[in-house]
Amino acid sequence: MLKPVPENISGKTILLRVDLNSNIQEGKPVVSARLKEHAKTISFFSSKKAKIVVLSHQGRKGKPDFVSLKNHLPELEKLTGKKIQFSLWKENFKEKIFSLKEEEILLMENTRFLDFESEEKTPKEHSENEIIKNLADSADLFVLDAFSVSHRSHATVVGFIPLMPSFMGKVLESEIINIEKVLNSKEKPKLLILGGAKPEDSLKTMAFFLKENKTDKVLAGGLLGELIIVSLGYDFGKKQKFFEEKGFLSLIPEIKEIYEPFSEKIFFPKDFALDENGKRTNINVFDLPADFISKDLGENAIKDFSEEISKAKLIVFNGPLGVFEEKEFSKGTKEILQAMKENSGFTFLGGGDTETALSSLGFSKEDFSFVSLSGKASLKFLSGKKLIAIEALKQSKLTLYINFVLFFFS
Ligand code: 3PG
Repeated sequence: MLKPVPENISGKTILLRVDLNSNIQEGKPVVSARLKEHAKTISFFSSKKAKIVVLSHQGRKGKPDFVSLKNHLPELEKLTGKKIQFSLWKENFKEKIFSLKEEEILLMENTRFLDFESEEKTPKEHSENEIIKNLADSADLFVLDAFSVSHRSHATVVGFIPLMPSFMGKVLESEIINIEKVLNSKEKPKLLILGGAKPEDSLKTMAFFLKENKTDKVLAGGLLGELIIVSLGYDFGKKQKFFEEKGFLSLIPEIKEIYEPFSEKIFFPKDFALDENGKRTNINVFDLPADFISKDLGENAIKDFSEEISKAKLIVFNGPLGVFEEKEFSKGTKEILQAMKENSGFTFLGGGDTETALSSLGFSKEDFSFVSLSGKASLKFLSGKKLIAIEALKQSKLTLYINFVLFFFS
């Protein structure tokens, strides 16, 4: 069982693992729902008079977004309305933690600046690291709120769990509640809408939902929809080279394996929008191959998909249906989101690019029942996979109980 944070945390020092990982523009994080929600968690603990040590990663080593979390300070201070202290890893962070007063917040430097952070080790192995032990020694409890990184067995995600009372935060809790709502819902018809630029991930989700009877229909857009069409023997013409270069054609045998038994439940676009030198033109699947690249659902596909959405009682949307970043090709994603907004059933949105699509197309998270703040983690969880950090939190039951008693009666 995952435990929520106890009520009385006044005066306690919390190691709070959040996910401030953001798109970086001109060195600054782009303010997102993820940043706002984690800022709320930080403010909440501060209002409960805890002392908070915030831990997060930003970017990946070698990528342009691998920057210091110092860049996030101004935005975080604005969002929490609090002055936030900062510590580099090379500083005496233990002293800084010990000198924190109630309600005060210390943001630690990007956890991925520590080389061991991203080593895939077990929670127990990570807990033996000196820095992890030092941090654990300086605090009373660990709160994991970064659902979006809970599929990674990284040091500051799983390493504290064997060492101290460990709890789930509000963001993590609401992600789990809503994904479980999707997986256990008895509402019918259920609809799974798949798009995005990672057809291998979409394929896994589609296979799980169909085999486990978690959906009545799948609307396959984006690259997955196109590859299903390729698996039926069509040639996309110019885009076929792109499929080849990206290695997507190796997915065809697996697509066929899933498509054949479930063909009645899987719907792919009847037509596509092509980028004819910047101009949007329409092509029917039967008229393939095309001399231009497809970038969006076609006009009929938009109508068909929207009609299916209007009949559904539960809808899961994972990934944009076209190149929404280009105005000319944002129509498909925009109209599908609009149809979801008008649906009175349960609408769940996830996927890495979804939040960017929502904000750039004029939607807000209030237009839907739930918008996940995570990409890969929610997709994995939706695909029936166990997430390592969630499992570690659950299995810490015994230690948790003992620590819990010691913690509150000491
Ligand atoms: C995300 O943005 O999905 C999380 O922050 C995880 O990032 P990662 O894929 O670099 O581990």
